[in-house]
Amino acid sequence: MEATAVAHPNIALVKYWGKRDIEYNLPAAGSVSMTLGGLETRTYVAFDSSLAHDQFELDGDLVDDGRRLARVTGFLDLIRERAGIDHRARVTSGNNFPTAAGLASSASGFAALAVAAASAAGLTIDERELSILARRGSGSAARSIYGGFVEMQPGAHAEPAVASEEAFARPIAPAEHWDLRCLVAVTAEGEKAVGSTEGMNRTQQTSPYFGAWVDSVPTDIDAARQVIAERDFESLADIAERSCLRMHASAIGAEPGVLYWRGTTVDLIHRVREARAGGLSAFFTIDAGPHVKVFCPADASDDVRALLDDVDGVRDVLEAWPGKAARLVELQESP
Ligand code: PMV
Repeated sequence: MEATAVAHPNIALVKYWGKRDIEYNLPAAGSVSMTLGGLETRTYVAFDSSLAHDQFELDGDLVDDGRRLARVTGFLDLIRERAGIDHRARVTSGNNFPTAAGLASSASGFAALAVAAASAAGLTIDERELSILARRGSGSAARSIYGGFVEMQPGAHAEPAVASEEAFARPIAPAEHWDLRCLVAVTAEGEKAVGSTEGMNRTQQTSPYFGAWVDSVPTDIDAARQVIAERDFESLADIAERSCLRMHASAIGAEPGVLYWRGTTVDLIHRVREARAGGLSAFFTIDAGPHVKVFCPADASDDVRALLDDVDGVRDVLEAWPGKAARLVELQESP
């Protein structure tokens, strides 16, 4: 079979930063996110007995860098094991958003790959299983299986192999629940120097603040779940900003410190805070890179865009809204 799937990236409102188990890619704590409509990854997968190796094409280029290809092959191995097949696969993937936006994250990539590869391998599995599978590719990808507002559960069991079956995302509220906007201020200073896995591992191994960070997450998740249900923007703003700043504080405390921010990042934090103090409904969040994502109600998005456009060092502003779940868009018999 050959299958094509679409998935959207997501941005965490309560961050994921740290792994409890590397082999199963188990998060150290839960997280909460919004799936981003308007930005998408489209991935085609066909298992083919004539191939000697997996082939992975991203945005029109064949990926031959060993590490990125190994990550896709490692993920496909999980699918092959489960489906009882050993054919190699042809994978073609493309993003409709610029890679430099710092959103070409693995989230939409592994969510789309999970859906397409499972279907192409003839597996019939539900969303929970897809979320568990996507997590093995990338922690944040587990959340992109669902649309709207999503909570990732970390898995409680002491045995990683058992906890792995408990560590999946679940929807908190559908996309239609709340018309928030997420504006991505793309900074000219460019991409991250330290990948999220390396940044997390270094933080976990060397930052004296890592334990305090992990301990702070459950309270934020409970609070975020409640204020999302109530569409309480100001409370969500407080929770999301503190989660972001605490995550980065733990990373900055590593040895050597993991610092993703550039000058423009800090300028943007101040501008958003000043605007909020002046009455604009907007809050910021930042992931493993210099770009800043600003959430606001739909009717504030023009004002937020004008604010971000005005900051020196902002190269582009992308706009997203609550998006749909990852989904299969085409399935056909291989010729
Ligand atoms: O999914 P990963 O392993 O790339 O980690 C994502 C980490 C952050 O984006 C910084 C936070 C998050 O929860 O998405």
